[in-house]
Amino acid sequence: MRKPFIAGNWKMNMLTAEAATLAAQLAEGLKDVKDIEIAVAPPCTALSAVAEVLSGSNIHLAGQNFFWEEKGAYTGEVSGLMLKDIGCSHVIIGHSERRQYFGETDESVNKKLKAAFQCHLTPILCVGETLEERETNKTMSVIERQVRAGLSGITRADARSLVIAYEPVWAIGTGKTATPEQAEEVHKKIREMSVDIYGNDLAEGLRIQYGGSVKPDNTKELMGKPDIDGALVGGASLKAESFIAIIKNAS
Ligand code: PGA
Repeated sequence: MRKPFIAGNWKMNMLTAEAATLAAQLAEGLKDVKDIEIAVAPPCTALSAVAEVLSGSNIHLAGQNFFWEEKGAYTGEVSGLMLKDIGCSHVIIGHSERRQYFGETDESVNKKLKAAFQCHLTPILCVGETLEERETNKTMSVIERQVRAGLSGITRADARSLVIAYEPVWAIGTGKTATPEQAEEVHKKIREMSVDIYGNDLAEGLRIQYGGSVKPDNTKELMGKPDIDGALVGGASLKAESFIAIIKNAS
């Protein structure tokens, strides 16, 4: 069966010392968790400090974004190889904040996915509709476009380690969580699409996280749905107490 996967996206928060403290609290508080895969995605500037604290722990390190080229004259960018080098095993790709504020497109997401697989980083591909798209009944077509375009040309062999995060934009940082039923409907659709693209066997193993105002008190209900295999947590991952509670409630 699919091992649940819960990741904390720290976004543009945490100075180095705060990040190291939080990582140490998580490593201690979560050290006995075996049935859930865990990752945190600190900002780039704190990756090195957090990598050191988490070394030997059961918590993986993830980048929040990267550029698809390996190296070169790309001022301000970080490559997948650099993320690997600093200790990352995972990377978030196509987060809605990147799509909204930094011009990320389905095409750039696709290039980043390919680059991530090439340097053996496990990508967490984020998809999700805006409020306007939901209200005009476009949710499923938007998700279908983002998933199909994102995965275009990605081989079955690579897709085996893929993780997808469904994050309705209207639920991110708003305190408005999708109901478990609303989330499950989209997760089911994503799984059906992956059956269509990669076949039953791979789709059965594909982990689909839900993201958008996940908190300790809504985790259990969300995780109770058959196609929800974990969570991508923003705000509630910035405090050890709430992130640990989310993981404990998901067990
Ligand atoms: P949130 O963010 O939990 O603060 O809503 C989720 C995310 O953006 O990954």
